[in-house]
Amino acid sequence: MTDEQIVERLKRQGEKLLEYLVFEIDGEVVSFVLLKWHGKETHPEYPDLEDLFTREDKRGKGYASALIKECENLVKEKGHKKIGLAANPDLNENARRLYEHLCYKHDGKKSYIDGIYNGVEDWVVDLEKEI
Ligand SMILES: CC(C)(COP(=O)(O)OP(=O)(O)OC[C@H]1O[C@@H](n2cnc3c(N)ncnc32)[C@H](O)[C@@H]1OP(=O)(O)O)[C@@H](O)C(=O)NCCC(=O)NCCS
Repeated sequence: MTDEQIVERLKRQGEKLLEYLVFEIDGEVVSFVLLKWHGKETHPEYPDLEDLFTREDKRGKGYASALIKECENLVKEKGHKKIGLAANPDLNENARRLYEHLCYKHDGKKSYIDGIYNGVEDWVVDLEKEI
C-alpha cells in the first residue's frame, strides 16, 4: 500500500466511511478486518470486507469467522440487505473454504485485477451474501 493510500484510508476512517474490527487477546491483536461502509468500485451498493488477516499461530480458532459475523451484524443493524468481499479463489484455499462455509457466493461476474502487490497481479472475484 502506498503512503497516499494509507493517508486516504485514515481520512475515510475519520469520516466513519470505514472501520477496522480487531480481535485482541491479552492486549495483542490476533485478527483484523476492514469494513468499508461505502462498498467497493464494483459493488458500491453494499458494504464490503477487506484485508482480513489472522496471525499465523492463531489460525483455525474461529477468530476470522467471529469478526466476519460481527461485521454482518453491524451491517444488518444499519439496514443493509447484503455484504460483499473480493477473493482470489484459486490461490487462497483457506479463505475460499472459509467464505464458502460462511455462505458467501460468487456474484457471477468475471474476475478482475484488484491491485498489484510486490509486482504480482491480484486477480479476484466478488463474493456476496444476503444478510
Ligand atoms: C483466511 C484467514 C483470515 C482465516 O483466518 P482464521 O482466523 O484462521 O479463520 P477461522 O479460524 O475463523 O476459520 C478457519 C477454519 O477454522 C475453523 N474453525 C473455526 N473455529 C474453530 C475452532 N474453535 N477450532 C478449530 N477450528 C475452527 C473454521 O471452521 C474454518 O474452517 P473452514 O476453513 O473449513 O471453514 C487466515 O488464514 C489468514 O489470515 N490468511 C492470510 C490472509 C488472507 O488470505 N486473507 C484473506 C484475503 S481474501
